[in-house]
Amino acid sequence: MKIDGSVALVTGANRGLGLAYARELVKRGAAKVYGAARNPAPVTEPGVTPVALDITDPKRVAEVAQQCADVSLLVNNAGVLRYSTFTSAPDLDAARQEMETNYFGTLRMCRAFAPVLAAAGGGAIVNMLSVTSFFTNPFDASYGASKAAEWSLTNGVRLELHHQGTLVVAVHAGFIDTEMAALTDAPKISPESVAAQVFDAVEAGQVEVLADERSRDIKAKLSRDHELIYPPIQEFWDAAVSGTPRD
Ligand SMILES: NC(=O)c1ccc[n+]([C@@H]2O[C@H](COP(=O)([O-])OP(=O)(O)OC[C@H]3O[C@@H](n4cnc5c(N)ncnc54)[C@H](OP(=O)(O)O)[C@@H]3O)[C@@H](O)[C@H]2O)c1
Repeated sequence: MKIDGSVALVTGANRGLGLAYARELVKRGAAKVYGAARNPAPVTEPGVTPVALDITDPKRVAEVAQQCADVSLLVNNAGVLRYSTFTSAPDLDAARQEMETNYFGTLRMCRAFAPVLAAAGGGAIVNMLSVTSFFTNPFDASYGASKAAEWSLTNGVRLELHHQGTLVVAVHAGFIDTEMAALTDAPKISPESVAAQVFDAVEAGQVEVLADERSRDIKAKLSRDHELIYPPIQEFWDAAVSGTPRD
């Protein structure tokens, strides 16, 4: 689909990658860009219309789908990362919040906007996933589980909405230079680069974006994950829990 003339809605558009998505949409000539955010006050980007939206609030999601009934491109960007393990986290709060936002929030948005996109002639959904959709890392274990679930829902929604001509794009990336990845000094890709690759893919009708070398490398190794992906993570984790972290 063409971005020029489209009507887009981006969740989590107040900062980070969501802001980069909204900016890139305006730059590419979208006719209207709804910038959805829990607190819409900071959504001041020229050309972006602020909309109050918490994707974990079913009533508000339904209202926004009615209010923004002209949307032809839905960008499910909003997400949370709590850096929580499975077995040593004090409780399930982080795991629940990540699942409630990343999986159920995105699922709720896809369900609410499916008829809106059908009315627009198909349109497109972009789901912002992660390289951790592909494997589990104890440092962000429950986040990875929520992103794996979101990957699964993305593949399912693509099948379910094929008949109405909706393109469903899965976006995977390692670290992106936003507040979410502020804790690490590992290599990071810019949010602008991710946004440019994603809307190139939407325009080309591609179903998957592997936005950085880490995502491309991990996806290529998936069929041999227990030989190629997990051993170095295990070594890193064992060193961390024994108090002798590696570089
Ligand atoms: N940064 C990375 O390294 C990285 C890598 C791969 C994938 N991702 C994914 O990229 C997406 C954007 O992340 P980011 O890097 O831009 O992180 P970020 O800077 O932490 O921004 C997260 C955004 O999501 C919003 N959000 C969180 N919970 C929400 C909810 N319940 N309803 C509506 N909005 C909500 C936040 O709003 P508030 O301001 O209200 O908190 C914020 O706008 C996420 O899905 C993330 O998982 C990030």
